[in-house]
Amino acid sequence: MRHVLVAGGAGFIGSNFVHYLFGKETPPSRITVLDKLTYAGNRSNLAKWENDPGFCFIQGDIRDPKASGEALQGVDAVVNFAAETHVDRSIYGATDFINTDVLGTYILMEEARKNGIKRFLQVSTDEVYGSIEQGSANEEAPLNPSSPYAASKAGGDLIALAYHKTHGLDVVITRCTNNYGPYQYPEKLIPLFITNALTERSLPLYGDGGNVRDWIYVEDHCRAIDLVLEKGESGGIYNVGGGQERNNVQVTHGILDLLEKPKSLITPVKDRPAHDRRYAVDDKKIRAMGFKPSVTFEEGLAKTCHWYQEHRDWWLRIRERDSEFKRFYELHYNNRETS
Ligand code: NAD
Ligand code: DAU
Repeated sequence: MRHVLVAGGAGFIGSNFVHYLFGKETPPSRITVLDKLTYAGNRSNLAKWENDPGFCFIQGDIRDPKASGEALQGVDAVVNFAAETHVDRSIYGATDFINTDVLGTYILMEEARKNGIKRFLQVSTDEVYGSIEQGSANEEAPLNPSSPYAASKAGGDLIALAYHKTHGLDVVITRCTNNYGPYQYPEKLIPLFITNALTERSLPLYGDGGNVRDWIYVEDHCRAIDLVLEKGESGGIYNVGGGQERNNVQVTHGILDLLEKPKSLITPVKDRPAHDRRYAVDDKKIRAMGFKPSVTFEEGLAKTCHWYQEHRDWWLRIRERDSEFKRFYELHYNNRETS
């Protein structure tokens, strides 16, 4: 089987994807992870495979042509997860987002072209379509990003499509909805609220809490990526949905109920600027290939709460010892006005 390069494989979805690939009946012959280990990257997420002869970890930046070129040696297929990913951080400053999500995607892709890589899967997001108040966005919908993060991801997608058209690089793109599950850095809604609740801190809910996301359990997303990697049409874009729309109040109540914590922990705070009201994708295309999410939101949320309860050391290390977590938390939440 193939040698797969997983860029950004020490992050949340990337590390789940490595676990998913190794768990397959016929795993790839080799998996190489290239990851810069930013604040969001965590090598311990991959500890299980460190001594596996089929696994190789390279600490490096996708923006560095040398690191990317070396990591690509002998590789058949690339799956690019590497990105700056937190919308709120992109509001304070977008330099890292543009550098990694646009320029980094270009550099990794250019090195892939030079090295004759057979297939390049760019992991993208439903946020590139912007807020979808009614109905759902299919793959032909216009790109209408609201945040600097989403705009950077849209830039990466356009570079990928241009490489397909101009250079014939075999590119496929997936655009997935909100993921949740094990190993998610505790700054996004679900892991932040679970770990805040477990430490009796307040849950800062933006605005009226009525914003809607379509939640997908991370393993389902990994299965969809694998399917597109194997069977996607060259140059194709594939939306991936969870079919589990919930607003933020529903998500928050779900977490508090599962953890048996009081609703009084909820603190409504000032809204996020340009906060997209709703994301929803039309995912008929990937469903026609046989993909169907297997985990309901209620099952997935219970599994996720359980994982964070059982892995306190993993997230306490970040929350209590990682200065970057503390810096951003203080900047973003301390003295945040109530709404
Ligand atoms: P994450 O922030 O948990 O992980 C990102 C990883 O990329 C980290 O390991 C980080 O160290 C690495 N990285 C960042 N910059 C790098 C660089 N310049 N060179 C090499 N490595 C670098 O992110 P995630 O939530 O796992 O998201 C992974 C991908 O999936 C992203 O491209 C994101 O846009 C996309 N996505 C995420 C979601 C979601 O809900 N989390 C949904 C749809 C799509
Ligand atoms: O839709 C896919 C995207 O989902 C991915 O591309 C992004 O990488 C990922 O971060 C996620 O973006 P969101 O902005 O939807 O996720 P986040 O967890 O930051 O926020 C989810 C919702 O919860 C959103 O409506 C904002 C709200 N929220 C979030 C935080 C962090 C709060 O109310 N309070 C908070 O403290």
